[in-house]
Amino acid sequence: MKTSRLLEVVNVSKRFGGLQAVDGVSFGVDPNQVVGLIGPNGSGKTTMMNLISGALRVSSGDIFFQDRLISNRPARTIFLRGVARTFQLVRPLGGLTPLESVMAGVVFSRRALWGREAVKAAERVLARVGMGGRETQPMAALTYIDQKRVELARAMVSQPTLLLLDEWLAGLNPTELGEGIELVRSIQQDGTTIVLVEHLMDAIRSLCDTCVVMSAGQLIAQGTPDEALQHPSVIAAYLGEADAT
Ligand SMILES: Nc1ncnc2c1ncn2[C@@H]1O[C@H](COP(=O)(O)OP(=O)(O)O)[C@@H](O)[C@H]1O
Ligand SMILES: [Mg+2]
Repeated sequence: MKTSRLLEVVNVSKRFGGLQAVDGVSFGVDPNQVVGLIGPNGSGKTTMMNLISGALRVSSGDIFFQDRLISNRPARTIFLRGVARTFQLVRPLGGLTPLESVMAGVVFSRRALWGREAVKAAERVLARVGMGGRETQPMAALTYIDQKRVELARAMVSQPTLLLLDEWLAGLNPTELGEGIELVRSIQQDGTTIVLVEHLMDAIRSLCDTCVVMSAGQLIAQGTPDEALQHPSVIAAYLGEADAT
């Protein structure tokens, strides 16, 4: 399949035993866009991120990145082609400093670096996410947003073409949220394409060029944030979700 799109998800399904977690979903992501993947809890968003990154195999359908089939390729292969991700749960590597934590990513990254070069690369990306001068503080002493900055730095150190952020903004206080939104926007402005799973409507409205809305595994709406969020099935799907503000 030949398209101008960076990522093309074509009729993708994922079953876990009897559960249809993703059900015939298709959407595309253009270069340098921020695309929001939204929907109620359990709608299949994280599963979709796992299918794109190769953490999970698709049951059927195809995923293309830069016109090459990536679905059911090893996660490492997809990563080396330029797809990096953060995880929904912040998982600071126990006992490491931010520098060590990012260094662990450097040695496995697309351009593997060693020694002094690896340290410089890790310091550069930590400065980029706002951790400059604090590279050697114990992770345990960091605020929540700073732990999230380190998680982001770990993903960014490979200089990905496509960055997958799974609820990276979740749990931030209002001040931190503003900083987090600005940081994501600046990464887009540097030329990175971003797919983000997010519940916070303000973040979606201010960051996303387009939105893909999932409910019970199916794509129920897509378009600009305003179009997607006004769709009757989206309003219905979100009714009763306390965090859909
Ligand atoms: N590894 C798994 N094994 C079995 N069921 C799973 C697995 N991962 C997710 N699910 C189920 O798939 C559905 C979609 O989950 P998920 O993709 O995490 O949703 P979301 O991220 O939108 O909240 C849920 O019903 C969830 O329980
Ligand atoms: Mg999820």
